[in-house]
Amino acid sequence: MRLNFLSALLLSILTSSLCDEHVTRNEKRSVVVETIHRFVPNLNISLENLAIRQTGEIIVTFDSEPTIYQIEPEVNGTGTFIYTFEGYTDLHGIVEVQPDQFYVTAGNLSLVTHIDVLGSCSVFHVNMTRFPDYVEVNKVADFPNSRILNGMALLSKEEGSVYIADSRVGIVNILNVNTGENFVAINNWLTNQPPGASEISNCVHGVHVVQLTPNSQKYLYFSNYAQGIIGRVPIHDSGLASGAAEVVAGNLTTPEDFILDTKGNIFLALFQANQFIRIDAHTHEITVLAGSPDSSEYKWAAAVEFGRRESDKDSLYATINGGYLESDNVGGALFRIRGGDIAMN
Ligand SMILES: *[C@@H]1O[C@H](CO)[C@@H](O)[C@H](O)[C@H]1NC(C)=O
Ligand SMILES: *[C@@H]1O[C@H](CO)[C@@H](O)[C@H](O)[C@H]1NC(C)=O
Ligand SMILES: *[C@@H]1O[C@H](CO)[C@@H](O)[C@H](O)[C@H]1NC(C)=O
Ligand SMILES: *[C@@H]1O[C@H](CO)[C@@H](O)[C@H](O)[C@H]1NC(C)=O
Ligand SMILES: *[C@@H]1O[C@H](CO)[C@@H](O)[C@H](O)[C@H]1NC(C)=O
Repeated sequence: MRLNFLSALLLSILTSSLCDEHVTRNEKRSVVVETIHRFVPNLNISLENLAIRQTGEIIVTFDSEPTIYQIEPEVNGTGTFIYTFEGYTDLHGIVEVQPDQFYVTAGNLSLVTHIDVLGSCSVFHVNMTRFPDYVEVNKVADFPNSRILNGMALLSKEEGSVYIADSRVGIVNILNVNTGENFVAINNWLTNQPPGASEISNCVHGVHVVQLTPNSQKYLYFSNYAQGIIGRVPIHDSGLASGAAEVVAGNLTTPEDFILDTKGNIFLALFQANQFIRIDAHTHEITVLAGSPDSSEYKWAAAVEFGRRESDKDSLYATINGGYLESDNVGGALFRIRGGDIAMN
């Protein structure tokens, strides 16, 4: 019964009386959440990250197995298998550099014990140009000193450089996807583990390059899962820090991946709080778009991205883990969140 309900179109139309005690009244504006795709719960598929193709389809990475899928951007959209990276146990980040050229991090983190394997991480190039007829996959680089390669962000399309967070070591690498050359670029107290962190703690997680106007300061924004913050550090064009890191928003419950809109508002997945939220650029007011700590509808919120079509560029696509191996597992899923009167993008 519950699963039937969940797999149905999830219309959190918040003005309706049907809804949903989990969103407070002033937030019940006109947010609409649609279920784009839900993997069958007892298959234990956990979604982690996502990237949107220029044609609008969504590529999702699994962290329960080393697999990527493409999902059509419509309610009950079809999922199509793309590729499995043999020799790894999980995937995390994904980023597009040139059109339809995606880069994915793979590694051997155990989703059961949360223990990683030092040196097991690699980055692969996934050429989607001819998909679904053909997908070409090549390794770009191995990372012998890395533990959990996590969020990825484009630094320079022209140079082919990307940032890659290591969420256990607490640093951010730069990788040139054309040459494989890579180095530790960002390493500060806000990307690191907090004092006394456990050996399975995750720190710097999502990363994004932000420059709100053409001549303004460029920043690397990042989430730190264990510290409960969004932070930022000013950067040179090279990607190295040009100043001190600072906290943008704090006291957040397990922040995972996020995106900023053109005005600097932050849209963020709070993993253990099962929520997708918006943090206002100016007031820092938090608006819950979907989910609540005591609900499994959006169990273990993972990542968000804006759509890329005219019809969905103001909508967020959002992944959940689904509650891997938990008794209330709802299945890894992809949602589309429309903000209604909450401005997005
Ligand atoms: C999506 O799937 C659910 C469950 O099978 C079904 O009830 C609903 O009508 C479908 N919606 C659309 C728009 O296809
Ligand atoms: C999913 O996980 C549960 C709990 O560990 C297990 O009983 C079940 O066999 C798993 N299903 C599959 C398809 O692996
Ligand atoms: C990672 O896991 C795969 C699959 O179990 C295994 O084949 C591979 O040897 C492991 N890699 C490392 C570096 O331990
Ligand atoms: C991607 O694949 C297309 C079609 O096979 C090919 O023409 C193109 O050169 C490839 N791009 C890269 C960056 O490898
Ligand atoms: C977190 O909340 C505490 C208590 O309200 C406050 O003192 C502190 O400044 C907050 N930290 C951040 C980074 O917002």
